[in-house]
Amino acid sequence: MPETGSIEIKDLTVRYRNKIALDGVSLSIPAKGIYAIIGPANSGKTTLLKSINRTIESEAGVSVKGQIFIDGRNTKRIRDIYELRRRIGMVFPLPVGLPLSIYDNVAYAPRIAGKHARSELDEIVERSLRQAALWDEVKDRLKSLGTMLSGGQQQRLTIARALSHDPEILCLDEFSIAVDPVTTMRIEDVLVELKNKMTIILVTNLVQQARRLGDLTCFMNMGKVVQVDETEKMFSDNPGNQLTYDYVHGVFG
Ligand SMILES: Nc1ncnc2c1ncn2[C@@H]1O[C@H](COP(=O)(O)OP(=O)(O)OP(=O)(O)O)[C@@H](O)[C@H]1O
Ligand SMILES: [Mg+2]
Repeated sequence: MPETGSIEIKDLTVRYRNKIALDGVSLSIPAKGIYAIIGPANSGKTTLLKSINRTIESEAGVSVKGQIFIDGRNTKRIRDIYELRRRIGMVFPLPVGLPLSIYDNVAYAPRIAGKHARSELDEIVERSLRQAALWDEVKDRLKSLGTMLSGGQQQRLTIARALSHDPEILCLDEFSIAVDPVTTMRIEDVLVELKNKMTIILVTNLVQQARRLGDLTCFMNMGKVVQVDETEKMFSDNPGNQLTYDYVHGVFG
């Protein structure tokens, strides 16, 4: 079976009305592994993730030029937007729990996709919660409201939901901004487990997190890609680019 989960971005330019958020971005994201994206505020990281799953199109006044290919297929040509979204799990900075039970939060997307058999849903819910390292903490109270969980647990519930439709690509946007360091470490372990199964795009404002987790690291600044390289090289004493050096060493940003 060919490896799935590769992304090719070609000359992507995104404008919000007259503000340029991404300026001719081209990237090759290989299948599997963790692709870390770092960069200061407003560098276009979130816009890039929203372009990949095409949620950007629902924002007012946005223009998108360029192409994005997933497994060689131009995403613009995918007519069923839900097919695309099923292939991409998204995790945002703050947990966005639905006002439903823990079980129903995770079963939500599979049900929309037409899965209703109890045994199948049970299996998906358990698998997703296990993958998100939350199962042991919630298995005895799956009927409780998801919103009653702690912040760190809710973020893991969000990850379980993103995994429930078995995506080939998992995007995380600053997932640790509102969770404690212990939860951050647990989720980092989860990502290391998952990276053999799917492509993980990890947007992070913590450069040390990129250093710990990224196989490749992409540094963005002001809507442009400054450098992409092996993480080790990006964080070395000589990454080959002064701006990269300054950013990862905290000179700015
Ligand atoms: N909905 C929007 N309308 C107008 N401008 C926007 C919108 N969303 C983002 N922008 C602008 O586009 C640029 C890129 O924003 P984006 O959110 O992608 O950056 P980011 O790298 O994710 O930043 P942060 O680290 O703060 O999350 C910024 O200048 C931002 O102000
Ligand atoms: Mg952002």
